[in-house]
Amino acid sequence: MTQSPGQGQALDNLLTESRTFPPSDEFAAQANAQPELYEEAKADREAFWAKQAERLHWDTKWTQVLDWSDAPFAKWFVGGKLNVAYNCVDRHVESGHGDQVAIHWEGEPGDSRAITYAELQREVCKAANALKSLGIGAEDRVAIYMPMVPEAIFSMLACARLGAMHSVVFGGFSAEALRTRIEDSSCKLVITTDGQFRRGNPFPLKPAVDEAVAAAPSVEKVLVVRRTGSEVAWSDKDVWWHELVDGQSDVHTPEAFDSEHPLFILYTSGTTGKPKGILHTSGGYLTQASYTQHYVFDLKPDTDVYWCTADIGWVTGHSYIVYGPLSNRVTQVVYEGTPNTPHEGRHWEIVQKYGVSIYYTAPTLIRTFMKWGADIPAKYDLSSLRVLGSVGEPINPEAWIWYRENVGGGKAPIVDTWWQTETGAIMISPLPGVISTKPGSAQQPLPGIGAKVVNDEGVEVPHGGGGYLVLDEPWPSMLRGIWGDEERYRDTYWSRFGEQGFYFAGDGAKYDADGDIWLLGRVDDVMNVSGHRISTTEVESALVSHPTVAEAAVVGASDATTGQGIVAFVILRGGAGSDAGGAEAIKALRDHVAKEIGPIAKPRQIMVVPELPKTRSGKIMRRLLRDVAENRAVGDVTTLADSSVMDLISAGLQSGKSED
Ligand code: WTA
Repeated sequence: MTQSPGQGQALDNLLTESRTFPPSDEFAAQANAQPELYEEAKADREAFWAKQAERLHWDTKWTQVLDWSDAPFAKWFVGGKLNVAYNCVDRHVESGHGDQVAIHWEGEPGDSRAITYAELQREVCKAANALKSLGIGAEDRVAIYMPMVPEAIFSMLACARLGAMHSVVFGGFSAEALRTRIEDSSCKLVITTDGQFRRGNPFPLKPAVDEAVAAAPSVEKVLVVRRTGSEVAWSDKDVWWHELVDGQSDVHTPEAFDSEHPLFILYTSGTTGKPKGILHTSGGYLTQASYTQHYVFDLKPDTDVYWCTADIGWVTGHSYIVYGPLSNRVTQVVYEGTPNTPHEGRHWEIVQKYGVSIYYTAPTLIRTFMKWGADIPAKYDLSSLRVLGSVGEPINPEAWIWYRENVGGGKAPIVDTWWQTETGAIMISPLPGVISTKPGSAQQPLPGIGAKVVNDEGVEVPHGGGGYLVLDEPWPSMLRGIWGDEERYRDTYWSRFGEQGFYFAGDGAKYDADGDIWLLGRVDDVMNVSGHRISTTEVESALVSHPTVAEAAVVGASDATTGQGIVAFVILRGGAGSDAGGAEAIKALRDHVAKEIGPIAKPRQIMVVPELPKTRSGKIMRRLLRDVAENRAVGDVTTLADSSVMDLISAGLQSGKSED
């Protein structure tokens, strides 16, 4: 199983893509990023980052850019002091932009609210005063378990203003998931809502908090925003937001905190075991969030309307709804609901309504839009869109092209941004206006960032070779550890290539002939077939490039002769004929993969399924599909967005027609 494939490569490079899209002269001329940015960073990395830190307001300037003497614990902008919330809110009001809309909030039922920077400042000050009255101070932990309502953003910024750490827990997680996270970092306060709107209906949220808090003695108070107006049980820990916050003074003087003062904890799942509390701090994090937002999205604060479709429960919501955009004085859309409520054109309707110019989403949603059909975005005026972004998983070239043609009008550059909860901000991405984009590739480390593809020995692979993605230089927004578990931090990220001192990202990657980086999925999603390590992503991309396939997930199932055999689960496009799941069609798909990648990648088995098991953030849970492929009882489904999906898949398989 651990047999190495040919040429000492850790991962075989099988799929090639030759289309490239240079930026228009017009875009390039007006772009924030110019080619010199790469030169500048290369010439003096620390001076480059020092310059980026000047994007922020520092109460006390730092004396040293980077202290890496206690690696793998970095200190950036040593000795500097700043207030993160002041940087995201007050300074824009002070510079005369109080009337600029910060947030166009769009509720799922159709209610909306425009919040200016002046109003944002008042709301954040009131919330900070309220939190203080509940005994929250520097370094206290506050759990935020809320839907996408403005108060969620006010709460995060109020914590930042007080130097308290927020731990946002996605509102779709269970009471048990919330409890373990509250407990792990001993949160004193939980901020939540009575309920949330999902798919046109109000759903209760507070009962999960009640259940979690009953078993979490660290929690002293629960602050509750009224959103749906549904009945809720009430205890003496509970306080209504409108009763406490609305009456507070809207003036609050921010205190400056050390650059390395903790800002937040965000839990992310590891391959096994309990979630890891990823710790981020202030000055370096905000510097890189701000820098990347400005250059990667080509943000023009006076004219752009930006929309990131993530939830604040994920790191993308932290860095690219709250800290990056607001530190850059963005005007942005925040949408509460699901993309098909009340109809499948909701996103495009919102783009048209607000004239959204920058749109940042995930491949899983793009593939869903593909499934719904190109005629839906075609009904709306999307001509305001000028930059498109993708994040969260490798984007299949097919989906990339669809996105470009049907959303970007065949001209908006697409930035495929690679990063992680741990990296805090974007690390690898083309810079629009500078780099000719390539469908499916994240391409180049950003100026100031060091990333490489290496083999098992930590040696960089040649162009055309595959291996593991590592980060070979510390970066400002890097995690500062795992909450309460130094050993796990060292083990997970710094031991695999300890000798070289590289950060191990856990992702497979390859260089193409031009030296551009392609992400190939998590290393544990890599299959080993007859000694060839094959990326699940490449086989999935090949399947999705067939006209009958809407979505595909591929796993390696143990095989007596080849080590692992490739098993594919496919969802067919709505329009595919009724015989599309028949033996002929399956054979055609296997042949198609053989043609696209090579006979080695031909799936042993293809199963047609109605849905794929996904986490709430849209990642396919291949572990569960592996259980099905290996005829085992299906494992823990509690982190699935919809746990009935596995029943659907099993039922579909019993119909017998889905096997080759
Ligand atoms: C994957 C999300 C390919 C990758 C910001 C990474 C990507 C994990 C990309 C982190 C991309 C993220 N191309 N893969 N553009 N962006 N990933 O912590 O496997 O939720 O390690 O952070 O998502 O997921 P996380």
